[in-house]
Amino acid sequence: MDPIIAQIQALAKTSDEAGRLNIIRTLRQVQFDLQGPKDSLMEVAGSGLVTAMLRVGADIGLFTSLAKSAAPLKVAEIAELTSTSPQLLERILRYLAATNMIKETAANEYTTNMVTHTLADPKGEAMIYHAFDTHGPVVTAMPEFFAENKYQDITSNTSTPFQKAHNTKLSCFEWMLQHPQHFESLQKIMTALGGSEWTQDFTLFESEAQKIQSTVQPSEKPFLVDVGGGHGHQCIRLGEKYPNLLGRLVVQDLPEAVKKLAPIAGVKAEAYDFFQPQPITGARFYYLRRIMHDWPDNEAAKILRNTAAAMNADSRILIDDTVLPDAGANWQATTADLLMMAFGGKERNEAQWTSLAKDAGLRVECIHTYVASTYTAIVVLALE
Ligand SMILES: C[S@@+](CC[C@H](N)C(=O)[O-])C[C@H]1O[C@@H](n2cnc3c(N)ncnc32)[C@H](O)[C@@H]1O
Repeated sequence: MDPIIAQIQALAKTSDEAGRLNIIRTLRQVQFDLQGPKDSLMEVAGSGLVTAMLRVGADIGLFTSLAKSAAPLKVAEIAELTSTSPQLLERILRYLAATNMIKETAANEYTTNMVTHTLADPKGEAMIYHAFDTHGPVVTAMPEFFAENKYQDITSNTSTPFQKAHNTKLSCFEWMLQHPQHFESLQKIMTALGGSEWTQDFTLFESEAQKIQSTVQPSEKPFLVDVGGGHGHQCIRLGEKYPNLLGRLVVQDLPEAVKKLAPIAGVKAEAYDFFQPQPITGARFYYLRRIMHDWPDNEAAKILRNTAAAMNADSRILIDDTVLPDAGANWQATTADLLMMAFGGKERNEAQWTSLAKDAGLRVECIHTYVASTYTAIVVLALE
């Protein structure tokens, strides 16, 4: 096995992002092909444990304790650091090492691996709490919700497994605003998942960005408005990549998101509810990243209509989201789709994007796919 593994690792090192993800997908396929019925049954039996044990690990500061120590730690030392019983801890550590969340170095001795460092980071910790506390109960509620609703499609964001799980009438975002710790976790996760790779080889955007002079004229319209842009990570990245855009970038989000933002040089932060008319007219680009997939068609069309009403003939909406393939979607995209479905959102294929755009008086001008293996793309919308 070792030479084969070395070959795969060497291949991964020389692969681009798409190649790396392809290797992971193939290895997972091999794993499932090799699994016998007993392996599959044990996997089903333990499927809920991972997030629960990660939550315990985060609660007791396990991942940060391991990450802070340059040398491996004995169970007794970790128990001391985390104020836990060594007997209880030993069994949890054994499980976390067997599931590759931490690394076992000798009997009763553990250290970090790459995954542990991700989990020890505040953004990794935010993902653990989001997965366990916000999504966990919702996923558990799905079978009963579907049965009660006679397995009908989910078309509203106030009648979903989310409301059943959290015993609320509020939509997911309304509920999160009332639970600031969960809203904060979401913002941290979104910032962690940010990146400006979408601009790479995106001719329409790059050519327009390059035309912009450094001096901002007082009457000038913003170049890009990041609608629902959270903590502004996209504007920060764009300003780093295209300093000439600074002074012409705006991040909009709910007041609860923008009020905590430290000032970002060259970026205006503005409180805005995208179900209200868009106050910035005639911007060159309105950028919506991971927004549309949070909403059912009716609400998604409303957001687009509000944006369309502010556009001029040169304005474009850039939807940064998934464009699902019509067949053979991978596990990441299908997982994301069901997680969105649980609170009323959905991932969409090209036909669904086209129909949504039309519903809002817009047309799909082009689709710039920037990570083919994850179907991540910019769907460019223009006025009809
Ligand atoms: C999934 S996050 C995406 C954040 C960011 N665009 C990104 O890709 O990192 C959804 C964002 O929509 C914002 N949001 C939800 N409802 C909103 C509303 N009615 N008006 C404006 N922003 C809203 C949330 O606060 C959150 O920042």
